[in-house]
Amino acid sequence: MCGIVAYIGERQAYPILIKGLKRLEYRGYDSAGVALLHQDNLNIYKKKGKVDGLVSFADDFDTTSTIGMGHTRWATHGEPNDINAHPHFSGDDHLTIVHNGIIENYDILKQALEQQGHVFKSDTDTEVLIHLIEEVQRSQGLVLEEAVRIALTKIVGAYAIVVIDKKEPNKIVAARKSSPLVVGIGENEFFLASDATPIIEYTKKVTYLNDEEVAVVHRDGTFQIKTIQNEELTPSFQYLDIQIELLEKGGYDYFMLKEIFQQPKTVSDCMRGRLNAEEGWTKLGSVENNIEKFLQANRIIFVACGTSWHAGLVAEYLFEELARIPVEVEYASEFRYRNPVLNENDIVIAISQSGETADTLAAIQLAKERGAFVYGVVNVVGSSIARATDSGSYIHAGPEIGVASTKAFTGQLTLLTMMALNLAYRKGTIAKDFYRQMVVEFSTIPDKIQQTLEDNNHIEFIAEQIRGSENALYLGRGYNFPVALEGALKLKEISYIHAEGYPAAEMKHGPIALIDEMMPVVVIATNKSAYEKIVSNIQEVKARKGRVIAIVTEGDKQIRKMADFVIEIPEVEEIFSPLVSAIPLQLLSYHTAVMRGCNVDQPRNLAKSVTVE
Ligand code: M6R
Repeated sequence: MCGIVAYIGERQAYPILIKGLKRLEYRGYDSAGVALLHQDNLNIYKKKGKVDGLVSFADDFDTTSTIGMGHTRWATHGEPNDINAHPHFSGDDHLTIVHNGIIENYDILKQALEQQGHVFKSDTDTEVLIHLIEEVQRSQGLVLEEAVRIALTKIVGAYAIVVIDKKEPNKIVAARKSSPLVVGIGENEFFLASDATPIIEYTKKVTYLNDEEVAVVHRDGTFQIKTIQNEELTPSFQYLDIQIELLEKGGYDYFMLKEIFQQPKTVSDCMRGRLNAEEGWTKLGSVENNIEKFLQANRIIFVACGTSWHAGLVAEYLFEELARIPVEVEYASEFRYRNPVLNENDIVIAISQSGETADTLAAIQLAKERGAFVYGVVNVVGSSIARATDSGSYIHAGPEIGVASTKAFTGQLTLLTMMALNLAYRKGTIAKDFYRQMVVEFSTIPDKIQQTLEDNNHIEFIAEQIRGSENALYLGRGYNFPVALEGALKLKEISYIHAEGYPAAEMKHGPIALIDEMMPVVVIATNKSAYEKIVSNIQEVKARKGRVIAIVTEGDKQIRKMADFVIEIPEVEEIFSPLVSAIPLQLLSYHTAVMRGCNVDQPRNLAKSVTVE
């Protein structure tokens, strides 16, 4: 939440900042702003709304500068408006800051600073921080990096910050705690950003700041990193491996549509080197390296949020049915505060696309403190969760830019399915023949996803029928119950139609009261094991005049006779069905949202990376 980008070097900063902000806009789009230091002038341009609005506004002003920073905001403290937009100034206007995170003790600090004569212009916690830095710097006569470091020792909360001082025009100071920040190292130039996407055109060499670290980068190409406790550190470098094309829409109207259509490839990429259909095996290096822990585990606890939590729910069915390991699936935000019983025989698996979700990170921290082994299933390489876990696997879905998660969900399912199959075989809870047969069938899933995508026009036609609805119900059973939850989340977050997912049989315990001729009811009816039961559930909906959109297995005749619309998907083993049944639900949400005039990539109030709790 909130995107930060900064530059110091010989190039013009403004175009780098604007391009970077556009890449980071997925993190928040309530307002955008830049600060540019040129000669003695610290020019700040900021506007409510998206980066394009900032560009039109700044066009009328001087943007010359070789040092500057930018911000795209997801509002926490203070409504989205021009004044609350970042960057913020210190009281005497010589310091400026951009910030991602929340300063929890801002109120108490603000009162103390007001007593010392500070006057605040905005409602933000960020402005309090820059006044605090100013106060520390002024009262102790410190250089910028020292003032920042000492001020941060007084802060409770989360931050990624960049600070520029017009009196020290050849340096930028940055720091992080619980919000990501990466430093790109070029030839006599530096780039700082919330993720690597604004940097990759210019340099591949980066270092990720860790919690409570402060970096100072100088125009002469030197830089230092310290902890806020004043301990000098030797940075470790990483080399980025992201292709720029992956950050473009590539001819699609929206990133979300591109990402939906990428899934045959992203699922294959996730399997590459980890699944061999000819030899009939699947394995993950990091599970192999910790195999005893997995084989001895008393239970597995999945912690995640949103779509990633839904992937955890599917995993519960997989791990319990195949590997016979007891599983719990927890919202990270609840788990972290409810004093869970954990010990060294538990494995906690954190699932996250971004690898930055604040609640999931805190849940990991807690699990580690309690002695559990923590494994990460993450998409973004080098992200905080990937680094905080004891071990883990990347899903290799590539950058997911649409706020609604699509290819990350199927990537998570792919990885977790491989893990469950492998552990089941290793534990002897499934027979070798069955294992090999499942591996072969699994390898065909990318083709089956492709086949499902070919039904796009038909799904678009169905979207036309529900675009005017105000509510929708999604029903599924077994492996497809979490898919119903996911389908409902996709619809509500991008089309603003209120949608609920339910286990199909639960419908009669309450939601059935909502059903009338206005209510679309999306039923995932592909399960072989509970087919007759789901047929009965459809009849119950039809008896109340609900409009049924059924996802069925190719060739299904019985449900076709009852449902108002059917979407056929290829026949697959039940354990793989979420990977295929999720696809039409993604497309249905996408088309519905587009028809309702919504910006599907940047739905209102949301951000891709939720770095505040
Ligand atoms: O990056 P994460 O997977 O940790 O994010 C978790 C949720 O914030 C995320 O899945 C969110 O629910 C998406 N908008 C769903 O499409």
